[in-house]
Amino acid sequence: MDEINKAQQEIAERATKKFREAFKGDPIVVRSPGRINIIGEHTDYNGGFVLPAAIDKAAYLAIALRDDDEIHLVAADLDENFSISLNELKPVGDVSWPNYILGSVAQFVKKEIALKGFNAVLISDVPIGAGLSSSAAVECATTYALSELMHTNLERLEMVKMSQTAEHEYAGVMCGIMDQFASMMGKQDHVIKLDCRSLQYDYVPFKLEGIKILLLDTNVKHSLASSEYNTRRKECSQAVSWIKEHEPRINSLRDVTEEMLDKYVLPKDKLIDKRSRFIVQEINRLQRACEDLQRGDIKSLGRKMFATHDGLSKMYEVSCDELDYMVEFVRNNDAVIGARMMGGGFGGCTINLVKEEAMDALIKDISLQYLKHFGKKPDAYIVSISDGTSRILS
Ligand code: GLA
Repeated sequence: MDEINKAQQEIAERATKKFREAFKGDPIVVRSPGRINIIGEHTDYNGGFVLPAAIDKAAYLAIALRDDDEIHLVAADLDENFSISLNELKPVGDVSWPNYILGSVAQFVKKEIALKGFNAVLISDVPIGAGLSSSAAVECATTYALSELMHTNLERLEMVKMSQTAEHEYAGVMCGIMDQFASMMGKQDHVIKLDCRSLQYDYVPFKLEGIKILLLDTNVKHSLASSEYNTRRKECSQAVSWIKEHEPRINSLRDVTEEMLDKYVLPKDKLIDKRSRFIVQEINRLQRACEDLQRGDIKSLGRKMFATHDGLSKMYEVSCDELDYMVEFVRNNDAVIGARMMGGGFGGCTINLVKEEAMDALIKDISLQYLKHFGKKPDAYIVSISDGTSRILS
């Protein structure tokens, strides 16, 4: 067994042990990973492309059915419990983690799929609030586990959509499909080029000789993110409706050109123009980045990652001082091929493609300088690309 599988097995065994301490019976364990995204940010809900991958950090759910309608949950790391009846399912205000589980349960109820109550223990090593989709990991783990236990034969894509709706309805974030798609559909050593309009996708090999993926966590929790996220969505759809008045075939920013923005959006509102122009550029940038990847021109891909960061920071305005600092810190370092903020924004991680031999020195250096500058420590995670949601113990 390789190191990664061994680590997964250990967490799964820990979840099973916790389950047996809290409940009776033998659980199954489902693992569902967090995600990274190489390029293509905020493009998913605009009908564009994204380039995510599942990582070797995941949510683990040890779960078994009950004979009644009750749901009993334990978050082992947080040492918190939560119970509710299936018949009283609703989002809970004061504790957040149960919502990701309950939101997924609610999708089965909506589809009128027969369900029973269940006991579950959650353990996750996806850092919370770090932009690595810890919530999507829990949603996908729950959806997959319930589907297994109830023998539903749901297709993976259907489970992706159910998990996304769980986030909309129980977390109030009108997210696109990227996070749940990457968690459920991830493939070891591959990124997923996903067309978020047609949902067609290709696995693109992503194992770069001598280069590793480093995530630098600002440790700024992105609490602003959900309200600002929903605002960005509205700004983009405002641009689409202005353009649609003149070009009725346009349904999303995917079909929009910068010329259309010049004509129909810029004269009306500079801010909306700036937001939507970033998206139009980012959708094009991703297409060209995929060509770079195909040609093996990793330097060119890296330059595009920096360009994405600049757009997210100055045009889409979803960055923060800490993220900007981290990207500036590595921008002229020859050992760093590309870097940018990742995910929804306002905190969380930067993603860096770093030459292996320079990794340790870089982490040491940036950790020290970041601490001096912001008075708090960053975290550093070297991640590898893993498979998506699966059952790992039974
Ligand atoms: C969050 C959302 C995703 C996506 C990213 C930004 O992670 O959940 O759907 O929009 O932000 O790319």
